[in-house]
Amino acid sequence: MDIGGSGIKGAPVDLERGDLVDERHKVLTPHPATPEAVADGVREVVAHFGWTGPVGVTFPGVVTGGITRTAANVDKRWIGTDAAALLTDRLGGCPVILLNDADAAGLAEMRFGAGRGRTGTVIVLTLGTGIGSAVFTDGRLLANTELGHLELNGHDAEKRASTKVKEDEDLSWQRWARRVQKYLAHVEMLFSPELFVIGGGVSRKAEKFLPLIEGIRAEIVPAQLQNNAGIVGAAMAAYAARAGAPPAAAVAPAGPGQPSAPPPGPPARAPRSAVASPVGWPDAAR
Ligand code: BGC
Repeated sequence: MDIGGSGIKGAPVDLERGDLVDERHKVLTPHPATPEAVADGVREVVAHFGWTGPVGVTFPGVVTGGITRTAANVDKRWIGTDAAALLTDRLGGCPVILLNDADAAGLAEMRFGAGRGRTGTVIVLTLGTGIGSAVFTDGRLLANTELGHLELNGHDAEKRASTKVKEDEDLSWQRWARRVQKYLAHVEMLFSPELFVIGGGVSRKAEKFLPLIEGIRAEIVPAQLQNNAGIVGAAMAAYAARAGAPPAAAVAPAGPGQPSAPPPGPPARAPRSAVASPVGWPDAAR
């Protein structure tokens, strides 16, 4: 499941292929997008597929231990909510694993997309309403990095370089690319990544702005999973938690012949306590 500002989307995921098994189902995000109203939307999408297993859910803010901690672009009532418990309750007890949206997209890109097999430091940035970030080192995720809120020229970076800002200020590709370039230079100064993967809806138009970006040492490539990255990454996290392994372990680049996902086991229901304090996410990644 992917909770976004405009839609709540979901689909069953084939974790071997990193692809959706069924066409994704979407309901509009209610307004105001309170935790309860959004949880009802999640229930509707899950019910559409008659799904009763573990559910991975992305959220556009910091999530630790199932609790949503920030809400830059969503209803402030999410801050401090035990969203995993709320969702588990609304889904009639389906175990729920909640994680940051960019972290989910990053997990999917590292396993099935543009970051596949890449070692060293890789930073996945999602450019959309806000800017999301997922930082990997040798395939392991450092969760909740929030690099979209770095300060850039005295501003919150996502208020200068997100795609929403491009639209709101009607910036040309050239002018917007200059802002993105400045932002990437700042992130590069801090982390020296080998690779930037640029995600979000705008990654479909990568040819319009990536060639305009200059002076960045790291390789810059568009994300490959586009719309489905969040959903696939959420499913990966849910599966990894179900198997009792950290999601980051599931993406660590595996050598030839090494399984990179936990072996399939008998269907298990996470105990309620595993939801409030996830076995595999994010604590076990520490
Ligand atoms: C939030 C991040 C989120 C990003 C993309 C930012 O405003 O703080 O948590 O990943 O937007 O949705």
